[in-house]
Amino acid sequence: MSQTLLTAKNIAHKFDYELFTNVNLEVKERESIAIVGRSGSGKSTLLHIFSTFIHPNRGEVTLLGKNIYSLSEEKTEKIRRYDLGIIFQAHYLFKGMTALDNIEIATLLANEKIDNELLERLEIRELMKQKIGELSGGQQQRVSIARVLSKKPKIIFADEPTGNLDKETAKLVMDVLLEYIERNSAGLILVTHDAEMAELCSKSFKLEQKVLKEIV
Ligand SMILES: Nc1ncnc2c1ncn2[C@@H]1O[C@H](COP(=O)(O)OP(=O)(O)OP(=O)(O)O)[C@@H](O)[C@H]1O
Ligand SMILES: [Mg+2]
Repeated sequence: MSQTLLTAKNIAHKFDYELFTNVNLEVKERESIAIVGRSGSGKSTLLHIFSTFIHPNRGEVTLLGKNIYSLSEEKTEKIRRYDLGIIFQAHYLFKGMTALDNIEIATLLANEKIDNELLERLEIRELMKQKIGELSGGQQQRVSIARVLSKKPKIIFADEPTGNLDKETAKLVMDVLLEYIERNSAGLILVTHDAEMAELCSKSFKLEQKVLKEIV
């Protein structure tokens, strides 16, 4: 039986206007979920709600068996450090440091080792000694993905991880993510504007007119 990694129940949230109501979602081991929808529909907000960063106005999120918005700050911090892989639009790499240093920080914090095969796979192994500032945008993006996967998260939240990449590199990154969840019995929730990337996932949902609906 594959374990449930995330359950979201009756989620509603508003900032200036109501973004969505009654959002329900379940993510199991080895499952990849794509979320598509127009700019401003609330996809990034939803991802932040699923991943401990925004407390929703209504509803509950259970991550790895824990109701995340009822936990202490300390316990939330622990989940973020060991279990979550966050790939958001702005990737926070340390610019003055090398690619290797950036990845090492993550592996040290999570008690993991650097996975050279992964670096090879993402075609960034040769770049490890270079400073982040010397890398292209797409190379930086792949370093940040390597950094996230190196900590061996149980569930990955990715907000347009292939947004600035050419088609071929985007496909490569997507294959690496899907392989990762398969091998590690992890889960993936991916926000994307790219229908081709969404199709590679096990399920796709569209956020439209305040509801999250499965595309079948
Ligand atoms: N912290 C915040 N405070 C106030 N309003 C916010 C905040 N975060 C997001 N919003 C508003 O919520 C709406 C949805 O934003 P969100 O970033 O979730 O959209 P999105 O679907 O991810 O869009 P895009 O495809 O452009 O990334 C926007 O109108 C945005 O201005
Ligand atoms: Mg967004």
